Amino acid sequence: MRRKVTVVGSGNVGATVAHRLADKQLADVVLIDILEGVPQGKGLDLLESGPIEGYDLKIRGTNDYEDTGNSDLVVMTAGFPRKPGMSRDDLLKANAEIVRGAIEKVVKYSPDCFLIVVTNPLDAMAQTAYRVSGFSRNRVIGMAGVLDTARYRAFIAEALGVSVQNVQGFVLGGHGDAMVPVPRYTTVAGIPVTELMPKEQLETIIQRTRNGGAEIVNLLKAGSAFYAPSAAVVEMIDAIFNDRKKILPCAVFLEGEYGIQGLFVGVPVKLGARGMEQIIEITLTDEERAALEKSAAGVKELVGVIGV
Ligand code: NAI
Ligand code: 2OP
Repeated sequence: MRRKVTVVGSGNVGATVAHRLADKQLADVVLIDILEGVPQGKGLDLLESGPIEGYDLKIRGTNDYEDTGNSDLVVMTAGFPRKPGMSRDDLLKANAEIVRGAIEKVVKYSPDCFLIVVTNPLDAMAQTAYRVSGFSRNRVIGMAGVLDTARYRAFIAEALGVSVQNVQGFVLGGHGDAMVPVPRYTTVAGIPVTELMPKEQLETIIQRTRNGGAEIVNLLKAGSAFYAPSAAVVEMIDAIFNDRKKILPCAVFLEGEYGIQGLFVGVPVKLGARGMEQIIEITLTDEERAALEKSAAGVKELVGVIGV
């Protein structure tokens, strides 16, 4: 039977997730938003693409959570960007309220779904969704590491003039300036990246990766990235629906792994039919561990502000 995915928020990320899901024929899609007409219009537009693209999916937009019922997976993209005069904490509290309200309704109609959280600040919003849903931790996963790692891989491939498919690696930690790309575990066709480029060039790439979200915001002027973020979400959905057992960096609730207790932080996990099936613990040097702890401390501060 065909899967059903609800996407909460029909803005740039949400609508592009729906578009990619349809193109890959991964699921029927319900787009839901507080805006009247926008999710309906985008849903209808995607449905009408079916005869050209060759998909028979049910795609619709709505403002009513009843229509989201029995979803297999829900993607949370609802939220607002920071507005002039708004502090970081104001935005944090505003988006936490949006996530809280939406997750309560999602869970009422789809008690068995998986949740993929995208809304920023990512790790704190994933923790909000986890607490509000009451779901087990394998069913609540934050998307950031796949995006941050894609940026890191793209920059390395471009610098070396090789295929992006040759570049493997991951970024640990929270989705913020203190994220931790790990060169020691980065390879190009199996060759450690440290053998292929000077330390200074790699350090420049790491800084660009940390600044990846802001680089796009500065170019777009209004709004933030959505093509790579939506691709990242769909890679995670594909791994779960097709039980791929794919190892991907995701934000998950740590219960002592990496020495971190009771906090969402990005680490490599195995994604399959049971959602987050395993946390992969790798050995870190003292320096890498300190960087991860610093990043986790930033997340802890945010979750403290909203009390989740
Ligand atoms: P957007 O502004 O284009 O879309 C957000 C949508 O959420 C709007 O249509 C808005 O009407 C809707 N919305 C607001 N309150 C709602 C509610 N209570 N219920 C349902 N819908 C509601 O923003 P965009 O670009 O789609 O980004 C969405 C979020 O994802 C932002 O918080 C952004 O910072 C975050 N993001 C996170 C990434 C990550 O790596 N985790 C990457 C890219 C974006
Ligand atoms: C990004 O990294 C805005 O978090 C978003 O592009």
